[in-house]
Amino acid sequence: MLRPATAAVSPPASLQVLHWWTSASERKAANLLVAYAAADNVTWMDSAIPGGAGLAAVKVLRSLVLANDAPEVTQIIGASIGEWAELGMLLELDAPAQAGNWNAVLFPAIYKLVQHRQHVVAVPIGIHRINTLFYNRALFARLKLKPPKSWSEFEQIALKFNAEGIAALALSSEPWQVATLFENLLLASGGQQLHRELFVRMNAQALSDPRLTEALERLRLMKSWTKQPIAERNWTEVVQELANGEAAMLVMGDWAKGELNVTGLPTDGVFSCSAMPGTEKFNLYSVDTLTMFTKDYAHSPAQEKLARLLLTPAVQTGYNNVKGSVSVRRDADPARMDSCARASWTAFGLGASAQVPSLVHRMSVDEVARDAVIAEINHFFADDSVTPAQARQRLGAVFRALHLRRSDH
Ligand code: GAL
Repeated sequence: MLRPATAAVSPPASLQVLHWWTSASERKAANLLVAYAAADNVTWMDSAIPGGAGLAAVKVLRSLVLANDAPEVTQIIGASIGEWAELGMLLELDAPAQAGNWNAVLFPAIYKLVQHRQHVVAVPIGIHRINTLFYNRALFARLKLKPPKSWSEFEQIALKFNAEGIAALALSSEPWQVATLFENLLLASGGQQLHRELFVRMNAQALSDPRLTEALERLRLMKSWTKQPIAERNWTEVVQELANGEAAMLVMGDWAKGELNVTGLPTDGVFSCSAMPGTEKFNLYSVDTLTMFTKDYAHSPAQEKLARLLLTPAVQTGYNNVKGSVSVRRDADPARMDSCARASWTAFGLGASAQVPSLVHRMSVDEVARDAVIAEINHFFADDSVTPAQARQRLGAVFRALHLRRSDH
């Protein structure tokens, strides 16, 4: 039987997208992508899994894949990109990358990040700066203070706020939030080099460096800067503490900025940002990326279309302005960024000497190593009787076990 011309099979243009953007600003940023995709005839079927820093989304993804029900598009970031690509599950996106000239328009570190065995396997959408210090301008003005530039200024300012009965720092005991703060402290004390030895190479010998002990002691001290007793709360509630003036400062990553902006607080109004003291020249970064699962390739035209779309200047500017991150493109226009974004984008643009991949936000080591390190930091933070020496010892055991596992492969 002749097939009527109208029944020509057109590839499905509807894509299931799994991600963990569920806060108000994350939602708004994702909705913008949904709208852009729709305008390009791609239906983005949203599957958002709540949980800051992707705690639950990463687990849901694994179970979907085991059930042979992988979404067509997934937020997989950093070191995990290579792991999934190695299993042969990710669609190679060389065609859209070539068409969009990604090797020229992306920052070199970003272009490297999205490749596996010389193939592009992920779409970068934004760069988050983790070493951002947010501060409440009204509270700072009331006490006639300027944002701290060094640890000693940081400490003096904290004492002043605490003396006024104002929490100097907004923080909850959620493990990834604590570990994010610690990663900032480690970078401030030890610089890029010690961060690399410990949080990229997991070199057990570097654990005896006194600057690690200093960072651990500072983490413990900062616990007293927070609202007492410290409790486990979602990151969006912690951001609200800064917005309401219940806390003076916050260090968590610049998605906090997206959240402040979406509640009607523009940058340099109620709040402003500066770099975490002692880390000005660095960008401790995390890059959000989407990957595409191959399955039977039926969706690849739509997947490739979406990949290409996400890198266009209009999408990059619009999305990152809402999300709190910055464009992955080197030709982005800094004049269209607020002061926090401009500082982040400029620092990232300085290249390798400024770029520090975040362990907590999945850029430097795999998921198992990341989780193990976060657990040890959290153990130290939660239990005041654990000494820095004990924490170093436990981290040493973790590092050694992880290295054994690596050499097994
Ligand atoms: C990070 C992610 C950001 C932001 C944050 C809070 O891991 O890269 O996009 O969503 O978690 O959930």
